[in-house]
Amino acid sequence: MSSDVLERSVEYQGFERRGVIAFSWSGGIPMDVDLDAGAYFSANSAVYSVTADEMINGEILPLAGSWLDAGQERARATTLRPPESQQKRGMAVSAQKIAIIGGDGIGKEVMAVGRKILDAYAQKRGIAIEVVELDLGADRFLRDGTTFPAEDQKMIREECSAVLLGALGDPRVPDLGYARDILFGLRFGLDLFSNIRPVICLHDRLMPLTGKKASDCNTVVFRENTEGVYVGIGGNFKKGTPDEVAINEDLNTRKGVERVIRAAFEYAVSHGRKRVLMSDKSNAMQYAHGLWQRTFKEVAAEYPAIESKHMYVDALCLQMIRTPEMLDVVVTNNLFGDIVTDLGAGLQGGLGMAASANVGAGKVGLFEPVHGSAPDIAGKDKANPLATVLTIGMMLDWLGHPKAEQELTDIVRAAIDQKQCTVDVGGTLGTKAVGEFVLGQVAALA
Ligand SMILES: NC(=O)c1ccc[n+]([C@@H]2O[C@H](COP(=O)([O-])OP(=O)(O)OC[C@H]3O[C@@H](n4cnc5c(N)ncnc54)[C@H](O)[C@@H]3O)[C@@H](O)[C@H]2O)c1
Repeated sequence: MSSDVLERSVEYQGFERRGVIAFSWSGGIPMDVDLDAGAYFSANSAVYSVTADEMINGEILPLAGSWLDAGQERARATTLRPPESQQKRGMAVSAQKIAIIGGDGIGKEVMAVGRKILDAYAQKRGIAIEVVELDLGADRFLRDGTTFPAEDQKMIREECSAVLLGALGDPRVPDLGYARDILFGLRFGLDLFSNIRPVICLHDRLMPLTGKKASDCNTVVFRENTEGVYVGIGGNFKKGTPDEVAINEDLNTRKGVERVIRAAFEYAVSHGRKRVLMSDKSNAMQYAHGLWQRTFKEVAAEYPAIESKHMYVDALCLQMIRTPEMLDVVVTNNLFGDIVTDLGAGLQGGLGMAASANVGAGKVGLFEPVHGSAPDIAGKDKANPLATVLTIGMMLDWLGHPKAEQELTDIVRAAIDQKQCTVDVGGTLGTKAVGEFVLGQVAALA
């Protein structure tokens, strides 16, 4: 199928508000598409015109991708958010549905505060949202064995625009199987291939490096989110014996590598950033990371206005603490992204300040503070909820309300500046009191 075919209008055949509907090209080529456009298609109009850009940028997503040739598939994979379409949807009549999963430990505490802030901000700015809270996590698992029920997965896939997750992990369930079911069920199940983690220091007081200012730490890390060692391929041989063999495979596909690298470049372009650095360990892992090298060079060639650079991950760690100002956008694999962003959190004021988004080419995004359930401080009203506030900003931005990210980030900066924050970032307040401060700031927004 050539791309000029995409520029034709399509004829609407049997619209259902949600789910799978059949379209046919006016040229007569039949296809199935997953529409779920919320209120964007507000009426049963007979003909709907769609441009090539809308097709490619996620306005209409293929069920299996079979109608896209390789070039179009690559183009579609550039989509970080379905921005245009989400914005149109956001402005339309129906509310955007957001599922909140508090999860475990401090995840529940920061999400209780986050829910109030989300509601207050949405009300303040006239953003129509519908929030549904899902009772998932260790307590539920220990109560009735439930991990991530099929009906919740279906509801998220078919009805939600976003999921807001606290944290998962509970010492009572050491194997963490239920947590993997939920977290990987969302990340892998929704094919959320870009884990976007801003490593941005918001206040000089939080910068731990001598001679550096907050403005020296302004990096966004793209962590590949659906492949690598996290796919769980491997096993043990002769387990528990002196001859034991343990294997975890590092899975890297051309498609998976290319789409996250492209997403990083697209982000750089759309956010006015100048450089993209790809980090791997191709000197030691020549096959898997050789693929990253080749793919990065090819994709980078398509973005001549963006400076591209490669750095081994060990050198990147050094650079992050020596000259963080040299970094702009970083793209790396699942494991390295996980690790370097915890190092990055150290430059931001700790895990209580690190937010993240998990997005793909689809219509549902997952948003979560980077931190875990922190059993050491759980239930003590000590958790810093500001990473959650920043995460809500990222979510609302993705949902088509870009002012929200800036406004909530400014409020977080004010909380740090005025020491209206928790102990980990130099304040004296508890989780709930910080939430009250943020709510007050939201109420005071012009
Ligand atoms: N995405 C997730 O849900 C996620 C991420 C990381 C870890 N985990 C899980 O969380 C559990 C605990 O893991 P961990 O201890 O390695 O990591 P953690 O992020 O929970 O805690 C690490 C340290 O940072 C502190 N900390 C974390 N968040 C904080 C906050 N908001 N405010 C103040 N201090 C904060 C904790 O008190 C702890 O000392 C484990 O079960 C782990 O598997 C889950």
